[in-house]
Amino acid sequence: MSGRALSGRLGTGGIGRLAAWGALWMVPWLAAGRLWAQDPVEFFKKNCQSCHTIGGGDLTGPDLKDVTKRRERDWILRFLLDPKGMIDGGDAIATDLMARYKNVVMPNVPGMNRDLAEKLIDLIEKESALEKSQFAGVQISTRPFTAADRELGRRLFYGLQRLEARGPACITCHDVAGAPGFGGGHLGPDLTQVYARLGGRKPLSAWLVSPSTAVMQPVFKDKPLTADEILALAAFFEQRAGQTPPHRAGARVAFLLLGLVLAIGLMFAFDTIWKFRFRGVRRPLIDKRRSTQAA
Ligand code: HEC
Ligand code: HEC
Repeated sequence: MSGRALSGRLGTGGIGRLAAWGALWMVPWLAAGRLWAQDPVEFFKKNCQSCHTIGGGDLTGPDLKDVTKRRERDWILRFLLDPKGMIDGGDAIATDLMARYKNVVMPNVPGMNRDLAEKLIDLIEKESALEKSQFAGVQISTRPFTAADRELGRRLFYGLQRLEARGPACITCHDVAGAPGFGGGHLGPDLTQVYARLGGRKPLSAWLVSPSTAVMQPVFKDKPLTADEILALAAFFEQRAGQTPPHRAGARVAFLLLGLVLAIGLMFAFDTIWKFRFRGVRRPLIDKRRSTQAA
């Protein structure tokens, strides 16, 4: 059948549908292709460096420098493919590690497969041999926090001062103890206790260097926080950590009431303006009549 006959038979709409179907079929194929072609460096940045450095010390997870020297390659491979399964299965090394790392279970990372795991192990081995790995972690100063740090952190959190890379202010999505007015947004968790929750200054800082979660990652990927901003925010969170997270149920009722009061106020205001409007027309008429009567 010639192309023309085919298009005649299907009509232009038919061709469009055919093309759409073709494109749809390609989606899983392309997605699979992307996973196969996954660059281990990019993958490590996105999925591992929020918990691991290579030669920069422990974060939430152990420093991975020379891990290939202290473990069998096969063990690492199995662990990367299914850390949770290994721990649940009672693997001695894995359960011991977990106990040493605050009982945080390393998550099963989406997109992981054998080929990629092999590449990641090669990458870790190669980076371990370097004087300074690119995954040694962002060096955030360890000097003691100052009042100025806490104040800068507060201003950044509330959006009183712009983030250097122009990311959105934290308060848009997060609440915290002491936040003014009706508090912050609720898309993200309350951050009052986040300093302790993430394990203190270093893991919190590492987390903020490259957030790896569903919302934080895309929002800050191209607008990373600077080292100074992270230090300041960490100081701010440390200061808030002792306080009780706000109960915003009251605030929500207050918000509703305020809305109601505003609405009623506006009604009265319009009503009054309306009355004045009439009076404004009527008064001169009456005055005029009076003056003619008087005459
Ligand atoms: C949420 C934090 C987290 C993420 C993300 C994470 N890990 Fe882990 N990792 C851990 C923890 C915690 C341990 C210690 C074992 C445990 O508690 O599960 C660990 C253990 C390991 C170990 C064994 C270390 C040793 O000393 O034997 C390797 C290897 C490892 N992770 C590699 C990776 C790689 C590669 C990625 C990225 C694909 C990754 N991890 C992502 C937290 C994490
Ligand atoms: C667009 C909304 C949004 C903005 C803006 C935002 N966050 Fe988040 N954040 C989230 C969400 C949602 C989560 C929960 C994890 C996820 O889905 O990413 C989160 C999680 C976190 C966590 C981990 C909390 C935990 O308990 O594990 C930290 C820390 C954090 N954000 C810090 C910040 C800081 C600091 C800023 C400002 C520089 C900020 N976030 C700005 C939405 C946001």
